[in-house]
Amino acid sequence: MTRGTQIRGARVLITGAGSGIGRLMALDAAARGAAEILIWDLSAETGQAVRDELVATGAKARSFAVNVGDSSQVTAAAEETGPIDVLINCAGIVTGKKLLEADEDAVRRVYDVNVFALYWTTRAFLPGMIERNRGSVVTIASAAGLTGVAKQTDYSASKFAALGFTESLRNELRTDGSKVGTLVVCPFYINTGMFEGVTTKFPRLLPILEENYVATKVIDSIEAGREQLIMPALVRLLPSLRLLPTRAFDRTLDFLGVNKTMEHFTGRRPVAAEPNTASPAAELNSADPAAARG
Ligand SMILES: NC(=O)c1ccc[n+]([C@@H]2O[C@H](COP(=O)([O-])OP(=O)(O)OC[C@H]3O[C@@H](n4cnc5c(N)ncnc54)[C@H](O)[C@@H]3O)[C@@H](O)[C@H]2O)c1
Repeated sequence: MTRGTQIRGARVLITGAGSGIGRLMALDAAARGAAEILIWDLSAETGQAVRDELVATGAKARSFAVNVGDSSQVTAAAEETGPIDVLINCAGIVTGKKLLEADEDAVRRVYDVNVFALYWTTRAFLPGMIERNRGSVVTIASAAGLTGVAKQTDYSASKFAALGFTESLRNELRTDGSKVGTLVVCPFYINTGMFEGVTTKFPRLLPILEENYVATKVIDSIEAGREQLIMPALVRLLPSLRLLPTRAFDRTLDFLGVNKTMEHFTGRRPVAAEPNTASPAAELNSADPAAARG
């Protein structure tokens, strides 16, 4: 383990904090006495709502409307944000479609948000952390970064990339003798709504995780200086299962029901509401261009 970063007194930036575990990690960081919480989200409205929630608890917070997949937006927002101690790359999207059903723009958007954004945000804030020789870079990847899953050719591949990104960065920092830490998080499905409709064959072994539990575990892990957080426990077996011949590996995952989890995936449901009252997060989380246009 590397030296952890204590949240009390830290400046914490969370991308995608307008919703889901990003929002809950922001609330947890506020409760632990963060000096300031910076919320970056594609949706100005949900980011602002979370900022207001944090300020109502007495915390200091600012929100920025940023498309993290756009490097120039990230550079501009980083200048306004100023130095930070903890960067949590949490923004993420999914199409939930089979390879031949997802259109090119949607696939590119998944890579922009889930992969390229990691480069833009980390490159913006890492120099300051290295200079101060402290801080943490956190990547919210997924259990889908440890095994490919049917109907996730875009999402799973993007999360494999997120793991490779964080592991390489960890080794760069470590071999440079830096005390800046990294943490990669690989959860099974979480009940935030992003993966609405997914099912699990063995709810005891592979439970759909509770969002507050995941948020708290991530913040605990940052403070503890952990490098990797994989949950639930069964998912930690995946790397060793790879010692099996490929067909046996696939059959094991089939037995666990993993390749059927996405059969009833709907993702975030569009909110049936009057014009201008639909949740922006509901529209913008989707990798479907029609939904993204609202
Ligand atoms: N929900 C799950 O089952 C699950 C499982 C494993 C990993 N994860 C990962 O956890 C992270 C958070 O997921 P969640 O369930 O809280 O999702 P969520 O949909 O509730 O939140 C994602 C947030 O990211 C924001 N966002 C989307 N595109 C953006 C962009 N281009 N720029 C800035 N912000 C953008 C959205 O507006 C939203 O507020 C994601 O990286 C996801 O891949 C989720």
